Amino acid sequence: MLLKTVFLLVLVAQVLMLDNGLLRTPPMGWLAWERFRCNTNCDEDPKNCISERLFMEMADRLAQDGWRDLGYIYLNIDDCWIGGRDANGRLVPDPKRFPHGIAFLADYAHSLGLKLGIYEDIGNLTCMGYPGTTLDKVVQDAWTFAEWKVDMLKLDACFSTAKERATGYPKMAAALNVTGRPIAFSCSWPAYEGGLPPNVNYTRLAEICNLWRNYDDVQDSWGSVLSILDWFAEHQDVLQPVAGPGHWNDPDMLIIGNFGLSLDQARAQMALWTMLAAPLFMSTDLRTISAQNMDILQNPLMIKINQDPLGIQGRRIRKEKFYIEVFMRPLSNEASALVFFSRRTDMPYHYRCSLSMLNFNRSLTYEAEDVYSGDVITGLREETDFTVIINPSGVVMWYLYPIKNLEMSQ
Ligand code: GLA
Repeated sequence: MLLKTVFLLVLVAQVLMLDNGLLRTPPMGWLAWERFRCNTNCDEDPKNCISERLFMEMADRLAQDGWRDLGYIYLNIDDCWIGGRDANGRLVPDPKRFPHGIAFLADYAHSLGLKLGIYEDIGNLTCMGYPGTTLDKVVQDAWTFAEWKVDMLKLDACFSTAKERATGYPKMAAALNVTGRPIAFSCSWPAYEGGLPPNVNYTRLAEICNLWRNYDDVQDSWGSVLSILDWFAEHQDVLQPVAGPGHWNDPDMLIIGNFGLSLDQARAQMALWTMLAAPLFMSTDLRTISAQNMDILQNPLMIKINQDPLGIQGRRIRKEKFYIEVFMRPLSNEASALVFFSRRTDMPYHYRCSLSMLNFNRSLTYEAEDVYSGDVITGLREETDFTVIINPSGVVMWYLYPIKNLEMSQ
C-alpha cells in the first residue's frame, strides 16, 4: 500500500513538473511579434503579413545567413495565426494566410534544421482577439501542437482570471508532458501577476515553465529597453537566483535591426540581455537587416557568453551617481563577463575602475577580451587601475579570465 502511494506520488509529481530536459541554455531564434505584430493584411502587404510566406522566408534566412549555425534555431509564430476551431473543437490556422497548415511549416522548419514555436493564450481570447485555450481545451490543444510537431509553445494570458492562470499553466505543462513530444514551454503567467512575490512563486514556476515573461512588452524604442532593464536590475535579488539551465527569465525580444535604436543602443541591448542570461529572440526583418546589426547579433563571443553552460544570470554590481553602471555575470572556467554601461547623454565617458572595485579579490592575473572590438587587455591584477571609454547609451563589454587558467587549459 505504502509502495503504491509512493509510486502514485512520484507519478503525479512527474506529470505536474516540466521535466522535459529542454533549454539547458537560453533559447535563441526569431519571434514574429515585435516587428510584424498582427499585420493580417496580405492583400496590401503580402511580404510582411502574418502568413506562412513570412515564416518560410525567415526560415530561409535563418538557415542561409549563418543564424542557425550560431544557435538561432527557433522560428516562432506569435499571435494572429488562428483561423478558428473546427467541428471537433480542434484549432485551425487561418486558411488564407496558412493554406498548408502548421504541420507543413513545422516540417519546413525541421528540414532546415530549425524548430517551430507557436502561440496561444490561456484566456477566452488571445491578446489580439483570436480563440484562446480555455481550461477545457488545454489537453486537446497540447495534443494538436504535438501532432503538428511544434517545438515550443508561448502561452499568453490576456482575457484570463488569476484563477484560470493558476490552473491553466500547470495543466498545460502536464498536458505537454503527456504528449511525449519535447515542447519548450514559455509562460507569460508572471507578467500578468506583477512579476514579483508573493503573487509569483518563482520556485514553482521553474518546475512548470522553461522560460517566462516577467514584465512589460518590449516596444521599438530605447525608452522601452531602458524601462525593462531598470525593472530587472531593481528586482535582481528576486529574479537573479531563479534563472538557470532549463528555466529562464525573459525580458522580451531583441529589437536590434528595427527603427528605435542607435547602433550603440543596439550593442547595449545585446550586451545587457546577455548579462541577464536572457533568451535571444530577434524580432526583425532578417531579409533586410544591415551588416552592422547582423554583426551585433552574430558576435560569436557574445553568444558564447549568453550560452554559458553554468547558466548563471548576471547582476548589476555598481550604480554610480554619474550614470555609469557595471554588470557582472559569472561564467564557466572561472571567467566572467563585465558590461560597463553608460546612461549618459553628453559624450563618451572615461570610467576609471579596477577589478577590486568590482569585488574581485583573488591575487590572480587576468586578461580581458573586449567583446565588440576584439582588443585584448592583459596583465590585469585586482589593484590595477584601468579606464574604459563608454559611449552615451552604450556599453563596453569584457570577457575576463585568469591567465593562469588559460595556460592550464592549453
Ligand atoms: C502580449 C504579449 C506579446 C505578444 C502579444 C500578442 O502583449 O506579451 O509578447 O505576444 O500579446 O498579441
